[in-house]
Amino acid sequence: MSQTANESTETVADALRNDPRLAQAKRLVAEAIGDHASRLSVRPSAESLKSTFADLIDRLSAVRGGPPIWPYLSSGLGRGPYVELADGSVKLDFICGIGVHGAGHSDPGMVAAAIDAAIEDTVMQGNLQQNPASVVMMEKLTALAQASGAALPHCLLSTSGAMANENALKIAMHHKTPADRVLAFDNAFAGRTFAMATLTDRPNYRMGLPLTFPVDYLPFRDPANPERSTRWAVDELHRLLKRHPGRYAAFWAEPIAGEGGYYPGSHEFFTALCQPLKDAGVPIIFDEVQSFSRTSRPFAFQHYGLDEFADIVTVGKITQVCATLYSSEMKPTGPILSQTFTGATASIATGIEMLDRLESNHCFGPSGQNVQLATYFQDALAALATKYPDRVSGPYGEGMMVAFTPGDGSFDFAKKLMMHLFDIGLLGFVCGGDPTRIRFLPPPATTTKAHIDHAIELLDRGLATLP
Ligand SMILES: Cc1ncc(COP(=O)(O)O)c(C=O)c1O
Repeated sequence: MSQTANESTETVADALRNDPRLAQAKRLVAEAIGDHASRLSVRPSAESLKSTFADLIDRLSAVRGGPPIWPYLSSGLGRGPYVELADGSVKLDFICGIGVHGAGHSDPGMVAAAIDAAIEDTVMQGNLQQNPASVVMMEKLTALAQASGAALPHCLLSTSGAMANENALKIAMHHKTPADRVLAFDNAFAGRTFAMATLTDRPNYRMGLPLTFPVDYLPFRDPANPERSTRWAVDELHRLLKRHPGRYAAFWAEPIAGEGGYYPGSHEFFTALCQPLKDAGVPIIFDEVQSFSRTSRPFAFQHYGLDEFADIVTVGKITQVCATLYSSEMKPTGPILSQTFTGATASIATGIEMLDRLESNHCFGPSGQNVQLATYFQDALAALATKYPDRVSGPYGEGMMVAFTPGDGSFDFAKKLMMHLFDIGLLGFVCGGDPTRIRFLPPPATTTKAHIDHAIELLDRGLATLP
């Protein structure tokens, strides 16, 4: 049977995407969500839902083989940084699954992007089956990463921050073969796969697991003693480079220490380390899985002016789909990277929406939303530190990664306060070991000063009423 030429200027899928019925359906969905979500404001759990919720948590504990960190099961609805839980309580969510919900909960733009994704032909994208949106996401990330001079024209999507870091280390090791050692910082956190558990500086996270490669740790910048800590780190680096010449495949670093306790880096600190590493030909990996979107620039390495040193960069969490960005020099020559799933179609669509929203909400720039809101939040925490000198010290962190040290800095005290705040309606989460801090990751594309005022009011109440 002969085929007639296809003269179409758009695909049938494009015609579907442009069908006015879809636009109307999305409008109706947004309207319905808005109507119901407008009823949400911070409140305790509903008596009538308590036992069903407790039962759900018991079932969750049984099926996952242990209780969750805290009794959080979303009802499926929220409004900006407010989220309703399945027990009918409403919380001000200033941790957002560790920085994932950048536009808060039930955001109309994110829902619309997810609906667009739902009508695509496949639920997941992968190396053998990508849709055009994958290309758009990868290009958006590389454009952002290169905006101030970094050479990172390549991008691979993946489904977790740990996987993005796995790809980063594979690329570096492939490039530097047979070098097998990695440099990282004290208290680093890279994820929980075998390789990342090796890199992560927490003995209990690798209990019972064989180590996958040797890692040497450098001390991180101490904000109380920036010059001395920089000297220590640089001295240690030189000692190690001398001890293991040609053996380092990568220097892996969070520009802002995240799980380690919200310690900021600085231009001076990182330059003092990155220059000798560059001179020694050691690839530099910046892990921005937690820090992306939180500072005056999309990437914290840009915030610190480290563009010239970035060989490989990883992102995740707020980007919805995770990614490894890398320079042309690092391009692998062998088939070392491939994945059945690079990301869910909805993750990619909402990731694109998220990047657009960070920009349209003016999050970046020296006096952008992130800088303004972070200063506002930090000032309010400083006032609480004055009011409760025995219960609050700080503030700490960088940009929209905000933290304080509760009480004596012990894990037990921080956890007790964290759970008390949870009950009152404010979600923050612990980080760091010694001291343990409580951190906040307010959603940058939706947080306002009024939300921060509300968080401070709840925190004040929590500090005053903590038994
Ligand atoms: C800096 C950093 N890297 C990597 C990861 C791992 O990401 P994921 O949990 O998506 O594997 C995290 C998670 O908290 C992180 O904070």
